[in-house]
Amino acid sequence: MTDTYERQPAKQDASSALHDVGGVMLARPFKIRRLGHFGYNAVNLDDVLDFYVEGLGLIISDQSGTMPARLPAEEQDQLTPNERLLHFTRFGSEHHQLVFISSKVWDWVGQSNGSAGASINQVTWQVGSLAEVVDGAAWIWGQGERILRSGRDMPGSNWHTYLFDPEGHINELFYGMEQIGWDGLSKPREMWSGVLNERPSLPQPSEATEVAHAQAAGVDVSSGHRPHRVAQKSYDVDGVTMERPFKIVGIGPVSLFVAELDDARRFYTEVLGFDVRREVEWAGHRGVLLSCGTDHHALALYEDSLRDALGMAARCDSMALGFRLANYRQLRAAVAHMVARGAKEVSVAPELVPGFDYVAHLSDPDGNLVQLYYYQRQVAPDGPVPPAVAGAAHSWPDVIDAPPDVFGGQVFLGPWE
Ligand SMILES: [Fe+2]
Repeated sequence: MTDTYERQPAKQDASSALHDVGGVMLARPFKIRRLGHFGYNAVNLDDVLDFYVEGLGLIISDQSGTMPARLPAEEQDQLTPNERLLHFTRFGSEHHQLVFISSKVWDWVGQSNGSAGASINQVTWQVGSLAEVVDGAAWIWGQGERILRSGRDMPGSNWHTYLFDPEGHINELFYGMEQIGWDGLSKPREMWSGVLNERPSLPQPSEATEVAHAQAAGVDVSSGHRPHRVAQKSYDVDGVTMERPFKIVGIGPVSLFVAELDDARRFYTEVLGFDVRREVEWAGHRGVLLSCGTDHHALALYEDSLRDALGMAARCDSMALGFRLANYRQLRAAVAHMVARGAKEVSVAPELVPGFDYVAHLSDPDGNLVQLYYYQRQVAPDGPVPPAVAGAAHSWPDVIDAPPDVFGGQVFLGPWE
């Protein structure tokens, strides 16, 4: 792995400088738009896959043995077939939205960066362009924060920067996640050649150019992984015949346990640019809910004393990972479906989870909680709507001040072409 972040520069003053992000002046050279994906390091990997894939209906988009193959042969001999693979799963069109890695594999690989023992391998936020990933990495590094690496991974094709929060949770900023279309096909392995372990030079070719090059090189671009599922059951789900009585349609919020709430709050607001939506407290355990758009919150930080209060395992770095169901009826059906197949419902005080109306928490086989809901409060900024400026575009300024909710709504999901 090439480390392009060996020497930490003197901390730069972030208080006043503004950055041109596509002609809009922002306090940092990137804007987190939303949670893109998340990853667990699973102890009980077979059971965890059964819970999320068979139970909740996530779809496997790819399985890769590249990381497990880095382990010494004697360590690999101890791995089960599923532990020898990374499992990339999705519920929508993005190549991966939840990634599962064996904790045995992660604990070995994580020795090199201090993340061995972590239950989470990534908390991954989408920014608006590749330039935001690259310029954001340089800026974050300049703030004295710890960057793990920049580059591009396969499968998934997304460009990224990995960085640590003060607690050691690995965050990722990304652009350009591969999109899975109606045919369900992921890119073939012959197109996994763009792995890069250093900050890329810009510009990079568009995806359309990469596909054209692959075709010119004789790659069968339709030879990638496609899930083959034979429905065991069928349910009428709001007019569509489905294998289970609900459909997951969204991921997030992420709820992290932190030892030092104020330090974590500083990092996620001052460095990553989240806004504090609300402070919460229950039974002496404090938390802060943070937003990056119109959803009530995308991230929750809770003091880690809450972990014991909820009866969660000591290795759980997060309180919960949220999934949005398509509607209220499907939310109820999802909880009933999972409980019927053995999941345990865990009571979380409503004071800790404002922003939802009905919300349920289920324990997965490793003791992580899934947070199921169908509704999150949508929040608009205070203050007047900026005046509209229409027409005479040739006279508009080169750069403009940012409206308070700029880039806070919908975002283009995949790579540009
Ligand atoms: Fe990622």
